[in-house]
Amino acid sequence: MKPGQSYGNVEIEAIVEEIKLMNRYLSKTVVNLRPSGIRRYFDIAATMADVVTLGIGEPDFVTPSRIVAAGQQSLSDGHTGYTSNAGIYELRLGIANLIEKRYGLRYAPENEVLVTVGVSEALFLALKVLLDPGDEVLVVEPCFVANPALVETAGGIPVMAPTSAANDFQVTGDALEARITTRTKAILLSYPSNPTGAILTREHLLQVAAVAEARDLVVISDEIYERLVYDAEHINFATLPGMRERTIVLSGMSKSYAMTGWRIGYVTAPRDFTEAMYKIHQYLIMSAPTMGQHAALEAVRHGEDDVEMMRQSYDRRRRLIVDGFNRLGLTCFEPRGAFYAFPSIANTGMDDETFCEELLETERLALIPGRAFGASGRGFVRASYATGEDTIREALRRLERFLVSRGVIAPSAEAMLSP
Ligand SMILES: Cc1ncc(COP(=O)(O)O)c(C=O)c1O
Repeated sequence: MKPGQSYGNVEIEAIVEEIKLMNRYLSKTVVNLRPSGIRRYFDIAATMADVVTLGIGEPDFVTPSRIVAAGQQSLSDGHTGYTSNAGIYELRLGIANLIEKRYGLRYAPENEVLVTVGVSEALFLALKVLLDPGDEVLVVEPCFVANPALVETAGGIPVMAPTSAANDFQVTGDALEARITTRTKAILLSYPSNPTGAILTREHLLQVAAVAEARDLVVISDEIYERLVYDAEHINFATLPGMRERTIVLSGMSKSYAMTGWRIGYVTAPRDFTEAMYKIHQYLIMSAPTMGQHAALEAVRHGEDDVEMMRQSYDRRRRLIVDGFNRLGLTCFEPRGAFYAFPSIANTGMDDETFCEELLETERLALIPGRAFGASGRGFVRASYATGEDTIREALRRLERFLVSRGVIAPSAEAMLSP
């Protein structure tokens, strides 16, 4: 849209003037915050009929019934008030026990575990307690859209550290070193990765740890997809030598237990960090949703079989979608975690935004352009496979039709037979 153009009946200049007038009240931080590149596609898709979407980054499972029942029971039992600010003690204990069992790390439920409103709140708190205005955070990308936005919201400056498909989306010690200044405070990592599905090898984890140690940086490790790994083992960053004391690990119930709407996440970190985060949390939130905490308690105590059932199902869909992309000539890095595939669209001759817009318009298939997750995502698209196998097959059919229509691939025998 250019000045002078009209949008409906409204002149663009008038809209721009109105925005400027409103913005005079708002902080520069908020005015400068870019809208999420993901939302736009959902908004467009929502206006269309018969859309197939691989855009949504949340489980298609409903929360397992025993966990739902625990949440419902808590209401019937009259647990409708606030809880202790840091979260119900039994839940903090359950989280500490689960982490000890899985990783051999012990956190004190009294002051090293904090229950939050999803990893979203935990991430903001972690950044807010570390950053003074102008401090820098190394943000490994492509990454979750909130990462740079929340660094800015917390007063800091995100310094993006790119990764590439050629290097299996592994961040290297050198890439981090090259971006360190006197203002660098922390490294923000998120593996298994949204959007690439990459996990970090031990060798690369050790490189990150070495930089953190040498440069005295804090590591914020968002491990929300820790339970969703395939033919691989998840390594909790704090288990690396010397890292427990300088790492804030974030995780939660949303993805592993299909509990996005219950809004429960948690932080495990040395008490200096958790107590600082607690200071803000008690003013901002009081306590995470009470019903959600009771449901989460059931999940950490008895949810293992449910997690494993969902993980195996994602694994089947992962193979289906990755094979499909590769068969259609869109080279797809093999994701080892989370529920996203991140194929390259380099051979289509289109940029990722045009590709997604035209695909949505002509085939009503919603994927997300890689650039929404950072500059190094250009030339890729994100496809979530947290959806039924039939939906994935239909998505691949539509994609094939699109690629044939653009002359990227020749029609396959199957495609020619189908109407
Ligand atoms: C990497 C990552 N971190 C955090 C979140 C937000 O999680 P929560 O629902 O716990 O706030 C998401 C959601 O998509 C994510 O992909």
